[in-house]
Amino acid sequence: MVDQELHRGLEDIAVAETRLSTIDGEAGELIIGGYPVEELAKNALYEESVFLLFNDRLPTKSELESFRTELAGYRKISEEIKQVLRQAARENADAMDALRMGVAAANLGFDSTESTDHAKRLVSVIPTIVTTYWRYRSGKEPVEPRDDLGHTANYLYMLSGEEPDPAAVRGLETYLNTVVDHGLNASTFVARSIASSDSDLVSAVTGAVGSLKGPLHGGAPGPVLEMLLVAHESDDPEGYVQEKLDAGERLMGFGHRVYRTRDPRAEVLSRAAERLYSGSGDRAFFGFVEEFEETAVSRLSDHKPDRKLETNVEFYTAVLLYGVGIPQELFTTTFAVSRVGGWVAHCLEQAADNKIIRPVSIYVGDHNRSWTPAENR
Ligand code: COA
Repeated sequence: MVDQELHRGLEDIAVAETRLSTIDGEAGELIIGGYPVEELAKNALYEESVFLLFNDRLPTKSELESFRTELAGYRKISEEIKQVLRQAARENADAMDALRMGVAAANLGFDSTESTDHAKRLVSVIPTIVTTYWRYRSGKEPVEPRDDLGHTANYLYMLSGEEPDPAAVRGLETYLNTVVDHGLNASTFVARSIASSDSDLVSAVTGAVGSLKGPLHGGAPGPVLEMLLVAHESDDPEGYVQEKLDAGERLMGFGHRVYRTRDPRAEVLSRAAERLYSGSGDRAFFGFVEEFEETAVSRLSDHKPDRKLETNVEFYTAVLLYGVGIPQELFTTTFAVSRVGGWVAHCLEQAADNKIIRPVSIYVGDHNRSWTPAENR
């Protein structure tokens, strides 16, 4: 018997069991692979977070070393992929579109029948795709990956061609660990759905990139930064927020489908951003950001008293990535640099106990129409 109750946006519907992460939206808690996000984010290397998702435990020291070496070995991309990215940059394609094209071509020059190899390869290759596109887009030649650098440091190195600042590496590493997985969010659901038809990982990640691109999902941090810079310039955060809400606009970086409290990732990222800005001397901008957040949450509560609209992850993502020196155009692609770990882990988990994901829809169209030939319509 088909359940004819409509669940718009599949809200509150469970379609999979997972050991990867869980969210308590009322308590504001996020657990990744058994660890509270607060603990994992500040301590782990990104490679450790990915190993945790793949193996349901942290690696030993020697396992970590070999995992890092293995990932580093998958970083290079073929000339064919570079060509796709060069063309995307030449045509001023959006960074997420370029990433989608690059990921779709990720099999070129890579041959393996093992899905775990493809999983590691996808984790490794996304930073190279993003930075190669960005270098072409900036009129520069790509920087080849270095085997002696960790995953996060190498990403920054390939972006600028310069030795990365350790404080920026730690800030970015904290970000990558924080957003590596987050339950069955929209893009992870897309990846799992594609995997559930026994399709391949490249297809699943290509679809997930498309989903992440939307401003209601991973596309929010760019607009958050724009909003903060304009409000900072105006020196009137209160007036700015009120004007937006009066115009019926949404404040980017606030509200969430699951959390009814402040997103725990906002706290982790705000602490990381505070450390970074204090070190770089721009503590004043960080102070403005905190003031803006307080104003926005208070105005949102007047605006929608029956719906708790609190700070979400994207607000401090924008602040932290700006401080790290990631170009605004690459905020969402940097989200993908992290989330790919969750996407592929979910696909492997789905494959291990698969049932094709196939919900139902409720038909609201007409019945019993009778055919009229085209010339009579
Ligand atoms: N600013 C102003 N109003 C907001 C808001 C925001 N950031 N987020 C939600 N609302 C309002 C909606 O307008 C809606 O009001 P209505 O019932 O009068 O139409 C109500 O709150 C419920 O919003 P809804 O879109 O139904 O909630 P959702 O669970 O489907 O959506 C988000 C969640 C994240 C998509 C939504 O909060 C949003 O658009 N936020 C801004 C974008 C953003 O930061 N995205 C990153 C998410 S991590």
